[in-house]
Amino acid sequence: MIDSRIRAVMEFVRAGSRVVDVGADHGYLSIELARRGLATKIIATEKNRGPFEAARQNISAAGLDGVIELRLGDGLQILSAGEVDTICIAGMGGGLIKKILVDAPDVVSSARQLILQPMNDIKKIRELLAEMNWLIDDEDLAEAAGIIYEVISAVKVVAAPKIFKRESSPLRRKFFAQRIAKLQRVVAEMSKSDSARSSEKFAATLAEIDTLQRLC
Ligand SMILES: C[S@@+](CC[C@H](N)C(=O)[O-])C[C@H]1O[C@@H](n2cnc3c(N)ncnc32)[C@H](O)[C@@H]1O
Repeated sequence: MIDSRIRAVMEFVRAGSRVVDVGADHGYLSIELARRGLATKIIATEKNRGPFEAARQNISAAGLDGVIELRLGDGLQILSAGEVDTICIAGMGGGLIKKILVDAPDVVSSARQLILQPMNDIKKIRELLAEMNWLIDDEDLAEAAGIIYEVISAVKVVAAPKIFKRESSPLRRKFFAQRIAKLQRVVAEMSKSDSARSSEKFAATLAEIDTLQRLC
C-alpha cells in the first residue's frame, strides 16, 4: 500500500511517539504507523472533505477506527498545544508546509520532532527551521515512480551543540565514521539524478563529509 516516499517519512517516527499526520489524504501513512504499532497516539487531519472521506473509509477497512483519530480542518490549527510530539507533513509544497507550521506556533513549539517531506521549495523549509531554532538531525531520500524525494527530520534545539569542541575519542571517531557513511550513501543516491547533483543540498552534503573527515 505505501510507497518508498511514505515509508521514508514513517521510518523517522520514533517508537512511542504521539503523531499527527497533517493532510493525511488516503490515510496510508497513519494506517501503516498504526499497523506497525510505532506510535502511542495517531491523529490524521484533512482539510478537504473528499480525501477526509477516503481516509475514513481506508481507516475503517483496515479495522483502525479506534486507533487513528481523524479530524477535518486546516493544518495544525485543529490541535491543541501538547497533544502530539511528532508532526508529519508530507506530499505538500514547501510554501504550504511553511504556512501550516507558522500558523500554529504553540502546537509546533510543544512538539519535539518535525518530519517534513516537501514536494518543492525545500529551501524555504530549511530556512524556516533555522529561524525557528530547529535542528535538522537527519535526512533521507526516497525514490517513487522515478522521482527522488527529500525527507527531513528536525528536532528542537535545546542547547548549542558542543560536539566539535570536545576532544577526539574512539567513540567520537566511530560516530563521525557512521555519519560519513550515511552521508556518502545520500551522495551516491543523489548522484543518480542531474538535478539532485546540482542542488544546494548535494553541495552541502559534500561539504559536511569533508568537515567530518577532517575531524576524524
Ligand atoms: C498530495 S496530498 C499528500 C497526502 C499524504 N500526506 C502523502 O504524503 O501521500 C496533500 C493532502 O493535503 C491536504 N491538505 C492541503 N492543505 C491542507 C491543510 N492546510 N490542512 C490539512 N490538509 C491539507 C489535501 O487535501 C491533500 O489531501
